[in-house]
Parts: sequence; structure tokens; C-alpha cells
Amino acid sequence: MKRVREVGVTRIFEENEKSDKFILVNRGGARSTKSYSIAQLLIQRFTSQHNKAFLIVRKTMPALRITAYKLILDLLQDYGFYPYCHHNKTECVIKYGDNFMLFTSIEYISRIKSTEWNYVWQEEADEFTNEDFQILKMRMSAPTVPEEPNQMFLSLNPSDSYSWVKTKVIEKEPDCQDILSTYKDNPYLSKAYIKILERLEEQDPQLWRVYGEGEWGVLENLIFHNWDVVREWPETYDYAVRGLDFGFNNPSAFGEARVRDREVWLRELIYESELTNTQLIEKTNSLNIDKSVEIYADSAEPARIEEFYQAGYNIFPADKSIKDGLDYVKRLKLHIYHESINMLKELRGYKYKTDRAGHVFDEPVKYNDHAMDGIIRYPLYSYFKAHEVGGGGKVRFV
Ligand SMILES: Nc1ncnc2c1ncn2[C@@H]1O[C@H](COP(=O)(O)OP(=O)(O)O)[C@@H](O)[C@H]1O
Ligand SMILES: [Mg+2]
Repeated sequence: MKRVREVGVTRIFEENEKSDKFILVNRGGARSTKSYSIAQLLIQRFTSQHNKAFLIVRKTMPALRITAYKLILDLLQDYGFYPYCHHNKTECVIKYGDNFMLFTSIEYISRIKSTEWNYVWQEEADEFTNEDFQILKMRMSAPTVPEEPNQMFLSLNPSDSYSWVKTKVIEKEPDCQDILSTYKDNPYLSKAYIKILERLEEQDPQLWRVYGEGEWGVLENLIFHNWDVVREWPETYDYAVRGLDFGFNNPSAFGEARVRDREVWLRELIYESELTNTQLIEKTNSLNIDKSVEIYADSAEPARIEEFYQAGYNIFPADKSIKDGLDYVKRLKLHIYHESINMLKELRGYKYKTDRAGHVFDEPVKYNDHAMDGIIRYPLYSYFKAHEVGGGGKVRFV
């Protein structure tokens, strides 16, 4: 194997590597190295075994592209294998020797059904249905060499105790291993991120159980129920407005809303951690968007707002009233553009704080709320306050 340098792996890689089970469920908290470890293991096999077909699937293609597909391509580059691969970008197929790897979504089921697979990885497996899983399982090829059994890898955050992954796979499938991981298995995390995550323990026991401890939970008291996922991005609307939440250790979240009556189409444009303000402005510039559209940004960062203003953007400090803002947004009908996968992920876990006794508070948990603030509440509520209610108005600088 053309191993360019020694590669660091975690316990999760080792657990998966040594298992001879048919189904390996990797369930765990946030950033517990599930995806990275499965990607590493598949690359190891892809570049050392023979005549194997690898299938990497996610529910939707946009989500797959920026997660598992990107991760595997980056690692093939890092490990020095990429120059030896044949990469068909149109088909999303990578070949190495006599092995091939297809990246697709369950929507293109015919592509999956036309081949028999040796290794399948279902990323964010709980986005699929049990039927999807059964179809994939039927497409596993006959075993080749006994010491290289076919395997299915599933990875997910265990945010729903009623998920088929738990009730139909872990609890029912005879040849299955349940590999639990948490952020403590990841020695590569920054202290800043660990702090953000550990704050959850006091903030919200439900989220902590799932994202901190990797245990099956149920997320109750979700804030938004008034949304769906759409593939259309409207070209006619009453007005457009944008919002921005500044981050560094947390992601910066920038997006656009298009509003028609009480219906809102929402789309994320940037969602990325560790961007300085200069980099964030460069990224925004590279979107080539109309700079005159109003942007409402986190008012706690006046210096960063000022820099955007100097760069030509029509930017204002947002009205950050949480309760009024949420009350307003909850009365609208939100359509989330299907490629906005970070916003969708946040929406599914965005909830009111609860304590161990089950008491529900009137404020959201401050975790994974960057698109919720930056792309949803700041722009929609601030625009409403500035244009639609009498008085108020907007102030460029506070
Ligand atoms: N073996 C590794 N070597 C270097 N960095 C790693 C490794 N495993 C994980 N990481 C880092 O930790 C982050 C989180 O890992 P990831 O696999 O995405 O977590 P999960 O899928 O469990 O949420 C990755 O983005 C990467 O930066
Ligand atoms: Mg992952």
C-alpha cells in the first residue's frame, strides 16, 4: 500500500477495523470521529483489497457532497492516493486498481440497484427509512474472501430513541455491533470546542445525552414546527433580506430569506467555522450577490458590522429580542432550501431549555443555533421591526 505517512487513528477506527460483524452501527455524540474513522477504514480497504465495490450514501446528494464525499476526497489527497485514483466527477465514482467507490443518494436508487456491494456506508443513517436500509442490505454481494466479509456501516447521532436504527437494527439484527463513541474519543478537538459542548451538560440534559454522551434520547420541546424542505428557490417575491451571525470557534452563518406574504424561503450561503472577518468578507464577496439587499447581523459585533459596511454591504445591527423574534417567526411558514443542510440539522435539534425535572424554559438552548439566529430570526424579525411596524425603524450603528 502506498502509505505516504503514518496516519493517526482513534479507538473508533480500531473497533470498526477489528470487527467481523456484518452491520456496524456507529452511534455517538457530536464530533466523536465516527465519519472520519469510517472514511479512513474504507480508504484503507479501497487501497489494499481487490475487486471490491464501495457504496457511500446519504439521504440527499447536496448533503453527501459536503460531508462524506468531501471527506474521502480530502483524505485520499492527504494520504497521497489521489494521484493514483481515477475520479469521474460527473458520475461521482472513484476507481483505484480494480476497486470502485460510488457516492450517491437514496434518491438515485437505480444506480444502487444495478450493482452488488461489498461495503456500504450510510452516513447520518437516521435520515433514511428502514425500507431504504433493507434495499441496501439486499444489494450486498455474495461474500468473496472469508477474511474480508462484506460490511454495512451506519453512522448517526442517536437523537431519536424510536429510530429504526435502534429498534430494527441494533435490537433485531443478529450479526450487528453497536459502537458507541463520544467527543472524549477524539483527541483532535480544540479546547474551545470541548467547552462549547460541555456547556450543554448544565444547559439541557436532553441535548447533552445525545450530543455529549452519545446515548439514545428524544428531543422534545423543539422550537420550530412550521417548516418544510423544498427544492425550489423563488424568483418572484415581495422582498429579500439577509442575516449574519458571526462566529469563529462556532460557525459564522450567513443566509438569505425571500418573503412572499407570510411564506418565507430560506437558504444558507455560508456556514463555516474559523473564518476571520476578513476571510468572511472575502467569502461573501465571492458569492457575487447584490450588495444592496439588507443584511441584519449580530449586534454584539459592531466592529465586524462596520467592516462589512466599509466593504459595501447594506448591513445593520439585528434586533435580537429572543422571545418576540421567535413569536414572530413561528407565525410564518418557512420553506428551507434542500441544500441548506446545516440549517436543517440545526432546525431538528433547536429546542427550548429543559431541566432534569422536566421544567421547560422560555429560551432556546444556546447550542447549534447559528443558522437559527443568523439566517432565520435576525433577518426576519429585524426586517419586520424596521419596515412593517410603525415607528422603530433601523439604526445603522448603535
Ligand atoms: N483520526 C483523526 N485524525 C485527525 N483528525 C481527526 C481524526 N478523527 C477526527 N478528527 C477531527 O475531528 C473532527 C470530528 O470528527 P468527525 O468524524 O467528523 O466526527 P463525527 O462524525 O463523529 O461527528 C473532524 O472534522 C476532524 O477534524
Ligand atoms: Mg459525522
